Amino acid sequence: MKFYVLTLFPEMIEQCLANSITGRAMEQGKIALEAVNIRDYTLDKHKKVDDYPYGGGAGMVMQAQPIYDAYRAVIEKIGHPCPVIYMTPQGKTFKQEMAKDFAEYEELILLCGHYEGVDERVLEEIVTHEVSIGDYVLTGGELPAMVVIDTISRLVPGVLHNDDSANTESFENGLLEYPQYSRPEVWNDKAVPPILLSGDHAKVDAWRLEQSIARTKVKRPDLYQEFIDKQ
Ligand code: ADE
Repeated sequence: MKFYVLTLFPEMIEQCLANSITGRAMEQGKIALEAVNIRDYTLDKHKKVDDYPYGGGAGMVMQAQPIYDAYRAVIEKIGHPCPVIYMTPQGKTFKQEMAKDFAEYEELILLCGHYEGVDERVLEEIVTHEVSIGDYVLTGGELPAMVVIDTISRLVPGVLHNDDSANTESFENGLLEYPQYSRPEVWNDKAVPPILLSGDHAKVDAWRLEQSIARTKVKRPDLYQEFIDKQ
């Protein structure tokens, strides 16, 4: 799985994802990342990548040419078309199901906007999916792109060492994850639920499912209702 990120801040993407599980996955060749600096593709002699909006208004708009040429360079390298995800608050809200669909591809291109926006014409030309990470506005698409890449990466086989953990966690069965405990058995006068020490795996599984359902009902009534409707 290879992620190409078209951005004005390649170091931001590279440095962040070089850590923790995504960093290890890259070292092990399970995923790959190429942050492409859009500025490297501008034909402007002052390396400019933005300009004033036609019709007036505040802020600057990222111009079509550098983005299009950066995109073309990536497509030529890959040798075939692939999804181009534009990170924008106007997009479809990112969910676990969407992450699973994207995880099926060998390559993904993510486009990060900045300033007040991106020239609409290049978006019409190259974008296949518009994705938002939630109803709030960030200063750019880099953090959203990293959220999307992190979420998809952990679904790639071999990225999580314990393959189980991708299947039992929150959202996987439409429920939130059950509570977890580790040593010591008693901490701050609070004991671990005795059933977890019983060694009876069937009972533990049943208790965990019960807990998942109960906490989904309280914390996410919307998800709980969907779960009930599906039964
Ligand atoms: N760019 C700015 N805000 C965003 C958001 N909420 N989701 C995706 N891209 C964005």
